[in-house]
Amino acid sequence: MERMRIAGGVPLKGRVKTQGAKNAALPVMAACLLLRGRGMRLANVPDLNDTGTMIELLSALGVSVKRDPDERNTVVFDTPDSVSCEAPEPLVRKMRASSLVLGPLLARCGRVVMPLPGGCSIGSRPIDLHLKGLVQMGAEVDIRGGAVYAKARRLVGRRIYLDFPSVGATENLMMAAACAKGETILENTAREPEIENLVAALRGMGVAVDADGIGCVRVAGSDDLKSCSARVIPDRIEACTYILAGIMTGGDVTVEDVVPEHIDALLAKLEEAGVAFSVARSESSASVAVRQPTGRLKPVSVKTMPFPGFPTDMQPQIVAALSLANGVSLVEENIFQGRFLYTAELNRMGAKIDIKGNTAVISGVRSLDGVSVAATDLRAGAALILAGLAAKGESLVENVEHVLRGYEDMDEKLRSLGATVAFETADA
Ligand code: EPZ
Repeated sequence: MERMRIAGGVPLKGRVKTQGAKNAALPVMAACLLLRGRGMRLANVPDLNDTGTMIELLSALGVSVKRDPDERNTVVFDTPDSVSCEAPEPLVRKMRASSLVLGPLLARCGRVVMPLPGGCSIGSRPIDLHLKGLVQMGAEVDIRGGAVYAKARRLVGRRIYLDFPSVGATENLMMAAACAKGETILENTAREPEIENLVAALRGMGVAVDADGIGCVRVAGSDDLKSCSARVIPDRIEACTYILAGIMTGGDVTVEDVVPEHIDALLAKLEEAGVAFSVARSESSASVAVRQPTGRLKPVSVKTMPFPGFPTDMQPQIVAALSLANGVSLVEENIFQGRFLYTAELNRMGAKIDIKGNTAVISGVRSLDGVSVAATDLRAGAALILAGLAAKGESLVENVEHVLRGYEDMDEKLRSLGATVAFETADA
């Protein structure tokens, strides 16, 4: 068990560079299973517990996966002619995103055994849409003994309408379609930037993919994929977390390597809340600078929605920020029903948050107190760290290993901005 000790109340100042996006890296890594006797070089892979678990999973399936010894964030994959089609249960249990190997393994091996990933602390997380799409492509799917058994001699391209624009289902079906017979037309797909990143990687492998950016993806299946190089996009959630760290501590933070269009939803809310920020673009990247606010944030209403709506993965962090606003804010969670567990911990720090159905009613307070709190999941942990940075006195955020699943070198990055934080191993 890890925890983070934070001496709060220090205005953060300086520049911080965004890591590669965890949720973009994981599906592109899984896509290496589509290759036969070919390889992929993937740059800007964040060094996190979750990407480490994906490396272990792909290795267990028979792929040779190595981090480039000279470049920590580059991973090199060599996929042999044949891979195992049985995903080991301990790894699937460790990380729900392990289910991203389902589509490529089925397309590649004609058979897959995949333990069901189960729910998690943000709510029930079924994979029915992934399975429904695979069945439409001709797979026989059986669920028994807590595992999915799927087989299909060759998946066949179909028109598939997703009942909800699920990120994972879109990714799994795009990968399955890459090796299917004929064209697959996916409708009502997720439009998250992480999908675009997978489209780019599949194109690099020689798959003809046409994504219109408004919910329709066409994939022409191919038997002959080639070796490729790909790059993971900047992590929009990490970038937004550091932007809020600057704002909540009354600091002056510039976040580098950002795609401004990926974080429009947060920037729009910051504008409404009265925050001054500036976006600087160069030829190859962009940065966002937040300036020391002159007063408290104005209260705002936020509704989480699929992209380009406000991301559910930023909901806990914006709630933490609005707990210090000058008035009552409403934050509605529309993606994961269990994603407010952490608000009880924020309330222990002096926040005033009531949960009414799927809405957090946040009565802003002038300051938070440093206390000992426990993270219930990755983004909840990030929200508690933000609150700790802004609070008066010392905070201890327990179970911070959740945060290590998604934020690379968070302690070092915060220290580089002037924060006094340290990871500790808690006594058993
Ligand atoms: C991805 O999860 C992200 N994970 C999540 O990141 C993120 O919160 C989520 O998308 C929404 O943006 C990865 O990319 C690895 P979904 P995913 O399928 O793919 C329902 C983080 O903190 N649904 O879009 O699992 C589901 O229950 C996290 O980094 C079904 O009903 O999300 C949820 O209500 C956690 N049936 C909604 O759709 C299905 O078959 C959105 O889920 C699939 C999903």
